[in-house]
Amino acid sequence: MSLDLEKIESHRLAYPRLREMIREVLFVERVESTNRVALEMASDGMPGGLLILSDSQRKGKGRLDRQWFSPAGANLYFSMLLRPYLPVREFPLFSMAASLALRDGIQRVAGIISEIKWPNDILIEEKKLAGILLESKTSGGETTPLVIGIGVNVNVDPEGFPRTLKKTATSLKAVLGHAVDRTDLLNVILEALSEQISLLHEGKKDLLIQRIQKECATLGKKVRVNTIRQEFEGLAEEIDGDGALLIRMGDGRLRRILIGDITHLRETVGHD
Ligand code: BTN
Repeated sequence: MSLDLEKIESHRLAYPRLREMIREVLFVERVESTNRVALEMASDGMPGGLLILSDSQRKGKGRLDRQWFSPAGANLYFSMLLRPYLPVREFPLFSMAASLALRDGIQRVAGIISEIKWPNDILIEEKKLAGILLESKTSGGETTPLVIGIGVNVNVDPEGFPRTLKKTATSLKAVLGHAVDRTDLLNVILEALSEQISLLHEGKKDLLIQRIQKECATLGKKVRVNTIRQEFEGLAEEIDGDGALLIRMGDGRLRRILIGDITHLRETVGHD
């Protein structure tokens, strides 16, 4: 089923927080990358409040220079261009906000409880269901633009994934055995995102941190961390006020990670 743009617009208009977050929706049937379009528009001085939505991407971008599998007619690919009144140091909190919104939206529409893997993966049984790519530029207007790109594997068949992703990726259809309405899912995710983001704009980031501390499946797990420079293991203990992950090393030191790839190894302490 194709995306219902009229339904997206009437949902947007019906929710004040959503109306505040999204002032304009731009749908492009096929695009290189919705994040790329959003960044280009930001460089041209586009104000915040733009949602770019596409049905397929030729070169969807994943984290750490990976490609995001983006076939037509099956999944969700969208980017929000914002110009937050928050210090750039706190931008990673938007990825926490998006993780919570995805988890809530997926639960409300598909009835599935997914896991949040720090910093921004949504997993089911350790397979990737959705991903978030935050990108920013330091020029292009008085405020710093922030692009939150989100991809959700909704209705791609399990055998539809490329061979390289079959073991590591999943979709809602693969888990449920039936298709999910992409428009309904998008609407609910956007609504949840506007709720989380309004916490940040209202100076209530502590509430967001408290929720992520409670719901991030990485916490309490032994993890392997890969950064650009090195690989190490430790216990994921806490997420701090800027969204960084604090890892307890074998020698008792705490290491603070802002960017990196995490592998969950095993649960070592209780975490609720
Ligand atoms: C990840 O590696 O987990 C992040 C994936 C983010 C993919 C989305 S799809 C919509 C938006 N446009 C892009 O090019 N990437 C993001």
